[in-house]
Amino acid sequence: MKKIIVATGNEGKMKEIRQILGGENVEIVSLKDENLQDVEIVEDGKTFEENALIKASTISKLTGTMVLADDSGLEVDYMDKAPGVYSARYLGEDTPYTVKNNHIIDELKDAVGEERSARFVCVIACVLPDGRSITTRGTIEGQIGYEEKGSNGFGYDPIFYLPERGCTTAELSPEEKNKISHRGKALTAMYKKLKEENLL
Ligand code: IMP
Repeated sequence: MKKIIVATGNEGKMKEIRQILGGENVEIVSLKDENLQDVEIVEDGKTFEENALIKASTISKLTGTMVLADDSGLEVDYMDKAPGVYSARYLGEDTPYTVKNNHIIDELKDAVGEERSARFVCVIACVLPDGRSITTRGTIEGQIGYEEKGSNGFGYDPIFYLPERGCTTAELSPEEKNKISHRGKALTAMYKKLKEENLL
């Protein structure tokens, strides 16, 4: 039985990762399961790849096992791809998302149509016991809406508008969002790579 530690404290992410990567030959455990929830991880990378690798390698160095980590965020083209890797910390870690969301809407007050393009990005990094690493990236393209809509999801979902569906990601059910999300795509790509290399 293979063991993969997922370097996250987020239960929602654990569930999604178990759904996509889980199987008979693999045990997927959280930092809490391994009593590693208090390990300090300094996320000072400039890219999603760097941050995901920092998280996974910090834990891998301590445990010597296979470790998976993710990093994600929102890129708004009109704002030079901000908030990007700073999405969680944008305008302050404890600032309510309704404030962050309305601030972004305001920043885009002169932007129309295609100028409102944005994407959610997710990078998954896997560090192997021999120190090698694999990363995969998933994105979902959309636009910044003119007002917050919907109450599902979290974070920037209420302003992330999907033109082809005519709604925001906060108006999708969790199942619908998982099928098309940046995290789902990056995880599915990681599943394929790990299978190819006989690591799952
Ligand atoms: P992290 O990858 O958990 O550090 O998350 C980064 C931040 O990006 C989150 O705190 C949210 O602000 C934003 N974010 C990432 N994925 C999503 C999403 O699916 N919906 C809304 N916001 C997201």
